[in-house]
Amino acid sequence: MKFKTGQFVELIDTKGRKYIFQLKKNEKFHFHQGFVLHNEIIGKEPGCQLVSSKGKKVLVFYPKTSDFLLKMKRGAQIIYPKDLGAILTLGDISLNNKVLEAGTGSGALTIYLLKMVGEKGKVISYERRKEFLERAKENIKNYFGKLPQNLILRKRDIYKQGIRREDKNLDRVVLDLPEPWRAIDAVKKSLKAGGILMVYNPTVQQMLRVKKEIDKTKRFYFEGMYEVLQREWKIEEMSMRPKDRMVAHTGFILVARRLS
Ligand SMILES: C[S@@+](CC[C@H](N)C(=O)[O-])C[C@H]1O[C@@H](n2cnc3c(N)ncnc32)[C@H](O)[C@@H]1O
Repeated sequence: MKFKTGQFVELIDTKGRKYIFQLKKNEKFHFHQGFVLHNEIIGKEPGCQLVSSKGKKVLVFYPKTSDFLLKMKRGAQIIYPKDLGAILTLGDISLNNKVLEAGTGSGALTIYLLKMVGEKGKVISYERRKEFLERAKENIKNYFGKLPQNLILRKRDIYKQGIRREDKNLDRVVLDLPEPWRAIDAVKKSLKAGGILMVYNPTVQQMLRVKKEIDKTKRFYFEGMYEVLQREWKIEEMSMRPKDRMVAHTGFILVARRLS
């Protein structure tokens, strides 16, 4: 589909740097290697090549979701794309699922959950800070072009207020909170038999507390705890090897399944 005004595009320069911006008539996009005119992009096909004002070749695509998330405005730290992929598979997030997440943060996981459950699924997201909720709403709207109808965003403190009655009967729950053990009792009451809980946290101390809390309920089968390492390689004729730098530690993913 050809690029239209109002759409977001991803520009990649000769050094592999990525920039994401919204197309507006008669505007210029300035970057490290000069500028390009938005009008030159509007009407072209994704994957097109342009030349910047400084004579540098650039490529223009529709933004990959993972790139969009890394560039969007953040209130809280987002879940990294490598971990988002693992959460979706370890949690078997599927079409038509009813999924609850807390906290919403910047909305990165929310966007992937919405993509996975489809229009007939439902994503409910709790966030205790109003300003983060507003930021996430803006990010989700920018990504989808509008707020999806099957998304429910609630300003709610899951530790103190638990899970609302109408939000119960859940297929999946994802907790990305500083003290997730404080939400386990609420999850126990709201997750369907056979439903899957995932907890994402950066430290072992947090995970240990969650594991203890889950065991205490006797209502979960603990499936495992995982860490995802993703190492990019340099691919050049005379030097094919892992790159010097990588994102080392982000977080652990704990997976548990609700017993009947
Ligand atoms: C690390 S961020 C979540 C990031 C999000 N998963 C994303 O990918 O963008 C953690 C969020 O949990 C929220 N939070 C902390 N305690 C909470 C609570 N008791 N109930 C609801 N949200 C809470 C914080 O305000 C913060 O926005």
